[in-house]
Amino acid sequence: MSYATVIKGGTIFTPDDSFVGDLAIDGEKIAVVSTDSLSGQEEVDAAGKYVFPGFIDPHVHIHLPFMGTNAIDDHASATQAALVGGTTTVIEMICPGPEDEPQAAFDEWSNLAAAGACCDYSFHLAVVRFDDLARTQIRNLVANSGVQSFKVFLAYKGALDISDGNLFELMLMARELGVTITAHCENAEAVDAMQKKLIAEGKTGPEWHEPSRPRCVEADGVNHLCGFAELTGATVYIVHTSCESAVARAIESRGRGVDVTVEAVVPHLVLDKTYAERANFEGAKYVMSPPLRDSRECDALWNGLASGAIGTIGTDHAPFNFNGQKDMGREAFTKIPNGIPSIQERVDLVHSHGVVPGKIDLRTLVDTCSTNAAKTFKMFPQKGALAVGSDADVVLYDPAFTGAFTHKDSLSQVDYCGFEGMPRRGRAEQVFLRGQRVAREGTFVGPPAAGRYLNR
Ligand code: URP
Ligand code: ZN
Ligand code: ZN
Repeated sequence: MSYATVIKGGTIFTPDDSFVGDLAIDGEKIAVVSTDSLSGQEEVDAAGKYVFPGFIDPHVHIHLPFMGTNAIDDHASATQAALVGGTTTVIEMICPGPEDEPQAAFDEWSNLAAAGACCDYSFHLAVVRFDDLARTQIRNLVANSGVQSFKVFLAYKGALDISDGNLFELMLMARELGVTITAHCENAEAVDAMQKKLIAEGKTGPEWHEPSRPRCVEADGVNHLCGFAELTGATVYIVHTSCESAVARAIESRGRGVDVTVEAVVPHLVLDKTYAERANFEGAKYVMSPPLRDSRECDALWNGLASGAIGTIGTDHAPFNFNGQKDMGREAFTKIPNGIPSIQERVDLVHSHGVVPGKIDLRTLVDTCSTNAAKTFKMFPQKGALAVGSDADVVLYDPAFTGAFTHKDSLSQVDYCGFEGMPRRGRAEQVFLRGQRVAREGTFVGPPAAGRYLNR
């Protein structure tokens, strides 16, 4: 039998195993994964390469009205950047304002994604408004539109944060509906008070962003959320966990029976707070929340990934230009739009700075950058698996590629690369989305707007 495409002789990572073999694609699906030799109309030589399941980024912002501006990517640029980096599925945060109706927000984000997304996608819906109308619409979105996860902000006081009363009710509803609550955990009141104190003392530069929201503020937020999960029985997912003490609060609650998954994001793994301390306001490029920490926290996060305490690696891609957006905060760090873009660089950063130096192994890379997100967010085994019948989202990865991360290679529209000059070991040489080649050696070669919504 001859298949349309066969990827031959690579090290294939299935959900439970890895071996040298062939993978056959038939239409949009994986037809065979085998140690036997297969033949195809097109045969792709994968000798010496890895064959990974398409990577899943469980935490991206593309359309993001935030802090008086809007993130600079559109769905075309962000998802093309994702694909050349080996990410074939993204879960975007829908972030409406406090007055917006959830259904209208879902429609707005859906229309934008349908018109531009080149990779497959789903959404977490942020719950900012929670009156009777919002409650009804949220139930309808779960029942009719495949929304299976929501987002709450315990931070951003007065803009996106949710009251404890609403959080409790939402989590009861989530438990009833069997959906997951993802959460940005920082104590909003404490951050607000610290920001006011520091600004009053004349401490206005980007280097003061981290001291305004220290580790205890994040650990407190995680503890708070997990307490509500313990009370309500809701399943929770803590996004962008930056430090050991925050991870520890989550793991303690897991010991008390809380169903909690911990996410790390790649900026916290490879950058430390000295980047945000760079002179001449350059530190603004590195302002995100929770903030970059001491380098010891990077090591603690890698250890948490290796031990399984941390389940997923996302990006929290939130692209704001240095010129014209980040510089809105020249007078006060509190006005710097938060975010460090990395949708394209994630997998190569994890490979270069996690796998190559031996901090995690290849199985952990596959699990944390793909399979675990698919399982947590109800996309497995359609996504996150090289298995017969799964979507043929396949990354042929060259671990021998050597270079450096640079803005010149970026398909995102943002005007800087936060990892400029850092060593790069490995590259997604070819990327297939549902059987179609969409990226090759850093270039997007797929059709426009062919990404599909994942109705979970
Ligand atoms: O700094 C960040 N994380 N920006 C994006 C918004 C969020 O909090 O996820
Ligand atoms: Zn956040
Ligand atoms: Zn985020």
